[in-house]
Amino acid sequence: MSCAGPDARAGVEHVEVLANERITEGVGLLVLHAPHTAASIAPGQFVHLRIAQAADFILRRPFSVHRAEGERLEILYQVLGRGTRELSSKAPGDAMDLIGPLGHGWEIPAEATHALLVAGGLGAAPLGMLAERLAARGVAVTVAQGAPTAARLVARVLFQDVSRRYEAATDDGSTGALGFVTKLSGRLMAADRPDVVYCCGPEAMERVVAEQAAAADVPCQVSLERLMACGVGACLSCVVSTRDGLKRACCNGPVFEASEVLWDASEVPPRH
Ligand SMILES: Cc1cc2nc3c(=O)[nH]c(=O)nc-3n(C[C@H](O)[C@H](O)[C@H](O)COP(=O)(O)OP(=O)(O)OC[C@H]3O[C@@H](n4cnc5c(N)ncnc54)[C@H](O)[C@@H]3O)c2cc1C
Ligand code: FES
Repeated sequence: MSCAGPDARAGVEHVEVLANERITEGVGLLVLHAPHTAASIAPGQFVHLRIAQAADFILRRPFSVHRAEGERLEILYQVLGRGTRELSSKAPGDAMDLIGPLGHGWEIPAEATHALLVAGGLGAAPLGMLAERLAARGVAVTVAQGAPTAARLVARVLFQDVSRRYEAATDDGSTGALGFVTKLSGRLMAADRPDVVYCCGPEAMERVVAEQAAAADVPCQVSLERLMACGVGACLSCVVSTRDGLKRACCNGPVFEASEVLWDASEVPPRH
């Protein structure tokens, strides 16, 4: 289960909250002054955030970086439990610390000309910076985004601004197609012929997108979520089964080649 260890540029950075806004029901956008991490983080990498100094917050929480601009980092977060509830109470001027940049992010093939991004729910978070980076490199971007309802299509404006084609699907049909985003992604792979697919969302959705990409013979990368304790490759709490054995999402990932992932818990990785 070899792991190169954390990114060589990773370190603890003391950061300050610049803004923290509720953008829709249960979802916030946190803006941090984090000059070191903002300058060095790549799309798809994450930070391990110490939300409060109290002893019962000793475990950091991992968050993808949604955007990095100048000395600012943006994190899109969903309020789920104690840590993210506490995060939602942070105000401008509050101090926190993070470890970052961490993990292996999205790969942009040198020859890529057209990318399809498939986002489900908060899976939009790590795709924001990627979409901007691809567009800046002249790669044509198509985005397929899914959410329970229109208001939960987070970062929709960013995706619409940088993409050549944007399509949405909602569970309640309030915007775009009625149903899952995988309805769109399969069709767009055939119609748009992307040369690379990037996907982040619930694992069941990622699995379907991975199957669609395999059927269309397009390379696909997925960002996988695991519970993470240390975030730097030491505790084995974030294991992912792959065709190449067990790997650690915090340092071998969170982004993996979809064809490498063993999606069924019952699939045992080969012994080497
Ligand atoms: C690499 C990585 C990047 C992530 N990026 C984002 C992001 O950009 N925005 C965002 O909102 N969330 C992101 N997450 C998930 C986020 O870390 C968890 O939602 C958060 O740690 C929950 O903390 P809590 O104290 O509020 O919840 P807890 O009280 O610890 O748990 C509440 C619920 O959330 C589940 N949960 C806790 N941690 C995780 C986790 N790591 N993955 C999946 N479910 C979890 C628990 O099982 C429980 O059901 C990311 C996770 C990883 C591994
Ligand atoms: S969180 Fe990945 S090894 Fe500790």
